[in-house]
Amino acid sequence: MPTKVEKDSITGTETTGHEWDGIKELNTPLPRWWLYILYATIAYSLVYYVLYPTIPGFDGLLDTNNRVALDDKLAVAYERQAVYRDGVAAHTTDEIAGDPELLSFALAGGRSLFADNCAPCHGLGGAGQHGYPALGDDVWLWGGTFDDIETSILYGIRSEHDETRFSEMPAFGADEILPAEEIAAAADFVLSLSGRAEDEAAAAAGAEIYADNCAACHGEAGEGDPSQGAPRINDQIWLYGGERDEIIAQIRKPQHGEMSPWVGRLDPDSIKMLTVYVHSLGGGQP
Ligand code: HEC
Ligand code: HEC
Repeated sequence: MPTKVEKDSITGTETTGHEWDGIKELNTPLPRWWLYILYATIAYSLVYYVLYPTIPGFDGLLDTNNRVALDDKLAVAYERQAVYRDGVAAHTTDEIAGDPELLSFALAGGRSLFADNCAPCHGLGGAGQHGYPALGDDVWLWGGTFDDIETSILYGIRSEHDETRFSEMPAFGADEILPAEEIAAAADFVLSLSGRAEDEAAAAAGAEIYADNCAACHGEAGEGDPSQGAPRINDQIWLYGGERDEIIAQIRKPQHGEMSPWVGRLDPDSIKMLTVYVHSLGGGQP
């Protein structure tokens, strides 16, 4: 390719020396206004580079690193909270509940921790939903004392943690422990425990099946057993639904709720505050 630079006779502009089939490329200079803007932006970027935090580790001459500013603000806030945080760390959940100042700090912290971490499953304020127990009532699967609640939160339920709470209801239908008609009779008896038997004779027939197969976990009168996480089934509160077909489904092939442990994901003081908060929701036991 020829590289002879020459002046174009029509425009008077130099060519670049490139030529294709007799067509030559003009080396038209960039417009001045465009160049000035380009130089201005380069100059601006240099100034900006020095004044503001641009390179990791260098906060700029103006010292306006937002992250550092936030850290400072948080440090001040933590400083102010320190007396309460230390208080939470140094006291048991019972003691926190007995100290009005610590209690209101723990409840505020617990409420926001709960909204961030627990509400997706347990609902805002612990209202609960199908398969996820309400935490605001006085019916507990695993117990509602400070210790019970803290244990549930720390190690989870049917989780991978060594100290997890664990229990399993047998699959009476799927594992062919009981024939279908006995499962139906047991369900009728369960309905009768909350005064809802549709068929008194069938419920009576189910009484013995219940006593033999279910009472060891759910109690003679369906009062439940928190030491095994066996729900109370003589009330109107149901984890998986209280209709006859829902009860039959649970007996045939039970569902089991799982919660991952929170130890390791939340610090011990946060778990204490959550315990105090959950206990305060309405159903805390002494
Ligand atoms: C992914 C869903 C999920 C999240 C998130 C979750 N939980 Fe749970 N939680 C469950 C399930 C499911 C159960 C019931 C397990 C069972 O059936 O025994 C449960 C049970 C509990 C229990 C025992 C209730 C009882 O009646 O004995 C407590 C207390 C509890 N959760 C507190 C919390 C707290 C506090 C948080 C937030 C730090 C939280 N949970 C976050 C799913 C969850
Ligand atoms: C080994 C203990 C055990 C035995 C035996 C057992 N259950 Fe359960 N049952 C449980 C547990 C634990 C749960 C709760 C599962 C969960 O929390 O996810 C449960 C849940 C239920 C539920 C659901 C309650 C709700 O709130 O939705 C019903 C209904 C029920 N069982 C009925 C029975 C009947 C009827 C029998 C006997 C035929 C029986 N169970 C035998 C442990 C047992």
